[in-house]
Formats: sequence, structure tokens, C-alpha cells
Amino acid sequence: MYTLGIETSCDDTSCAVVYSGKKVLSNITSSSLKYHKRYQGIIPEIASRAHLENIELVLSCALKKSRVDASRIDLIAFTYKPGLIGSLLVGVNFAKSLGYALKKPFIGVDHVEAHMYPVFFQGNLPKFPFIGLVISGGHTSLFLVKDFNLYKNISQTRDDAAGEAFDKVGKILNLGFPGGPIIEKLARRGDAGSIRFSCAGPRDSMDFSFSGIKTAVLYYVRRNSDKKINIKDIAASFQQAVVDELLRKIVLCCLKYKIKRVVVGGGVASNKYLRRRFKNELYTRNIDLYLSERQYCVDNAAMIAGLGYQLFNKGISSSIAIEAQP
Ligand code: KG4
Ligand code: ZN
Repeated sequence: MYTLGIETSCDDTSCAVVYSGKKVLSNITSSSLKYHKRYQGIIPEIASRAHLENIELVLSCALKKSRVDASRIDLIAFTYKPGLIGSLLVGVNFAKSLGYALKKPFIGVDHVEAHMYPVFFQGNLPKFPFIGLVISGGHTSLFLVKDFNLYKNISQTRDDAAGEAFDKVGKILNLGFPGGPIIEKLARRGDAGSIRFSCAGPRDSMDFSFSGIKTAVLYYVRRNSDKKINIKDIAASFQQAVVDELLRKIVLCCLKYKIKRVVVGGGVASNKYLRRRFKNELYTRNIDLYLSERQYCVDNAAMIAGLGYQLFNKGISSSIAIEAQP
């Protein structure tokens, strides 16, 4: 069964063809990131216009690369929430029209839940239930996942998401946008033990909080404005504190729910330092780690097609009345 995936929740216009929820035949993405860089953040209006301009071309490239003609597509899966409303509207309406014209069933998929799907493209599949961690620019959430359609949200961030914290610290340090990959690179040559940053979230819950550490970095930079600060040390110390906190909460969560399987996805999960620490530290605690492949950590339509296929197999589909939800 061939599923066409369509993802337009933020700045990436992505289309993919996935065979039976497992084999990614194509995954084509056009990003409008270069138009947002000068504003150091995603400008919703620019993103939705770019989706409108690019979506047809991205679709035809994805079909061509997969060598699957549109008439052979069995299901259309698309992101309908959450995201920038203008961006979602383009993808949702495009997908619905396509499904209607081709007389194919379609299904709306939750983008955050889909970030946990890419591990199912790999050989070693996690068994249900598992603990899922999504770390992206918009979300930092832990889930108890009992099946493809059974997610219990255990915790989320009370303020900034992990990726957002990377981006804001990048802005404070004048590094450019998005900050995540740049901070990762600088941190490689920094001393993570040189500055003590912490992002311990609220004590009374499993929720995350990353706005405090961003402010701590800002104050550190201001306090030392007359000295020559070492940006690499700041990057390494900040990155280490974020990873410490994510690991702390995962372990707490595994203990609380007595589950020793963790699935991780989302843009921040492409960070190599984080991947190394997660692998080492969860291994020593006997927790099985399923990490999304780096290419599927950032926004992509393959994960939407994959999850859409699994939901459709459970008898779930959407009607033409489905609407985008921010
Ligand atoms: O999942 P994603 O592509 O989009 C959302 O759904 O938000 O995640 C984007 C986020 C950005 O905040 C970006 O800075 C962060 O992922 N990111 C990283 C890295 N690559 C992307 N954060 C840390 N290290 C990275 N290597
Ligand atoms: Zn995402």
C-alpha cells in the first residue's frame, strides 16, 4: 500500500511516498528557511506563501523519485495539527483537494505524534508500550505510547521548547538562526564544565521549563560584557544542561511507568552530542533507546505518511470536513 505524506506545519514543504508504513520511497523537502534567517525566526506569512508556491513542485518531485504514479497512491496522509495556521491551511486544503480529485481516502495526522514514528522505518522496532520524547522547535513532550492511536501526554514544557531555547540562545550569542546546529558545532570545542547552567524544571511535576536557562545565558553574557567571553564554552555548558535535564526526566518517567523502552524524535534529536549521551546513559540504566535517524528528526513528510498508514490500518480516516488546527 502506497501512502503519500504531506507536511506543511512550519517552514518546510515536504512530500513523501512510503510503502506500507515501512519503506520510504521518496521524501522531498523544500525549506523557506533562507527567507526567515534575517528575521532570526520563522515569519508565518513568508512560510505560508512559500508553501503555496512550492507544494505542487515538491509533490511532483516526490512522486517522480518514488516511481509511483499519483493514480497508484492508496492513501493521502497530511499534517493537520499543530503548527502555524497559515502553513497548515495550505497543506490541509491541498491534500483534501488531491484526495477528492483522485478519489482516494485521506487522513489528518498529528505532527507531534508523528515525530515518534521514524524509528519504525528501521530494522529494530520498539514494542508497545514505550515512553516517547519529542524534542522540537515547538514542543518538548513526553508520552506514554500504548499504540499508534493511543498516546497519553505525560509532560510538556511550561514555557520554551528545547529547540526554541537553542534558537534563543543562538540569538543572544548572535550566531544566526536556527541556533541548534550552530550551538552543537561550537560546543564541540568548548568546555562544558566551565559555566554552571541549569534548567531543572518544576519540582512538583514532570513538566519541562527552558526559559530560565535562556535568561541565565543572557545574564551571563551581560554580566561579562566587558570581558572576552568564550562562546564555545557557553554553547557547551548550555547544551550539556539541556541534555542533562532531558535525560533526568526520561529516567524518572521510565521509573514511574516501569517501562524500559524510549523512542526519541524531533529536530533537537539530530544533535550528535545528545545522541551520544542518550545512548551511553540509557544503556547503563538498561533502558532500550530507539532514536530516529538524523535525516528524519527534522520536519518531514515520511513520518506523516508512516503514521497515517498505521492509523488507516486501524480503520481511522478523515472526512472532507477536517480542518487545520494551530
Ligand atoms: O522538528 P523540527 O524540525 O521542527 C519543529 O517541529 O519545531 O525542529 C526544529 C528545531 C529548531 O529549534 C532547531 O534549532 C532544532 O530543532 N535543531 C537542533 C539541531 N538541529 C535542529 N537543536 C540542537 N542541535 C541540533 N543539531
Ligand atoms: Zn516538527
